[in-house]
Amino acid sequence: MTAWLQGTVTENRAWTQALFSLRVSGVDLKYEAGQFVRIALDIGGERVARPFSFVNPPHDPVLEFYGIVVPEGPLSPRLAKLRTGDTLFVASNPAGFLVLSELPDAQTLWLLSTGTGIAPFLSMLRTEAPWKRFRHIVLVHAVRHARELVYQDLIRGMKGLGYVTFVSREPHAASLAGRIPQAIADGRLEAAAGVALAAATSQVMLCGNPQMLKDTTAALAARGMRKHRRRAPGHITVESFW
Ligand SMILES: Cc1cc2nc3c(=O)[nH]c(=O)nc-3n(C[C@H](O)[C@H](O)[C@H](O)COP(=O)(O)OP(=O)(O)OC[C@H]3O[C@@H](n4cnc5c(N)ncnc54)[C@H](O)[C@@H]3O)c2cc1C
Ligand SMILES: NC(=O)c1ccc[n+]([C@@H]2O[C@H](COP(=O)([O-])OP(=O)(O)OC[C@H]3O[C@@H](n4cnc5c(N)ncnc54)[C@H](OP(=O)(O)O)[C@@H]3O)[C@@H](O)[C@H]2O)c1
Repeated sequence: MTAWLQGTVTENRAWTQALFSLRVSGVDLKYEAGQFVRIALDIGGERVARPFSFVNPPHDPVLEFYGIVVPEGPLSPRLAKLRTGDTLFVASNPAGFLVLSELPDAQTLWLLSTGTGIAPFLSMLRTEAPWKRFRHIVLVHAVRHARELVYQDLIRGMKGLGYVTFVSREPHAASLAGRIPQAIADGRLEAAAGVALAAATSQVMLCGNPQMLKDTTAALAARGMRKHRRRAPGHITVESFW
């Protein structure tokens, strides 16, 4: 049985009509940056729970979650409407393997995300571990529209971070067009980052759209990279959001 902790919403920031960031206080949890936890609301007499990645680093007592409204979904439209002072239930057992402690050493850490999949990477980047372990870190964020390039202040404030964006459904001069896997295959991603994406030097973490995970894993396989497993170390670690 899941134990549920009761948190209080301290802020609900609307980035766009569909994108929101919730901050929640009053919940004491142990977890590693990159992990997720189930959050829940009581809807029609039932507790409806979904996994959400932490955006905050574990040392921050205020939890932060970054979400998108899936209009037909049961939970996300309601999360987007929460107000300061509202209750959010948080499960007591965070989990997940998209964590740096599972990763072999490498020169370069690539963090590739679509949409809300950027969340766990922001948590990791707000801890000391990646900055101590990797010579280069590249954060990649692919979104449909430029207005979905969120957390700009936080990201731009991270000294030494390589940051490459993709905007796929409108022209955007500062971003690459198209999708991550194609830009790996044709070399545009490496060129934009100015760092090699190679099995000998890189660990790659992927998060977001499941089809992106599949297509990107295939593009990386063409470069001699394979899924990382504890018993068979490799280069690719993934987390699917649906
Ligand atoms: C390990 C894990 C971590 C997750 N972390 C986050 C997170 O940090 N932020 C977040 O917004 N969601 C996250 N999700 C997805 C989240 O759990 C919900 O599925 C989402 O909030 C929609 O909930 P819902 O009840 O409204 O609709 P659901 O019934 O859960 O989803 C309906 C459909 O919406 C689409 N969908 C679901 N999530 C997303 C998404 N994030 N972006 C685009 N389309 C989506 C899919 O097509 C899915 O089949 C995570 C999922 C997993 C498995
Ligand atoms: N409520 C609202 O107003 C509202 C508004 C927008 C979205 N939504 C909801 O949010 C969902 C979409 O969320 P999202 O835009 O964050 O996620 P998404 O559909 O995963 O798109 C994010 C980025 O991932 C790219 N991508 C998709 N499939 C890929 C693949 N196989 N390989 C590589 N890249 C891939 C997309 O490129 P492409 O553009 O080429 O697909 C886009 O650049 C919708 O289904 C909808 O339910 C709601």
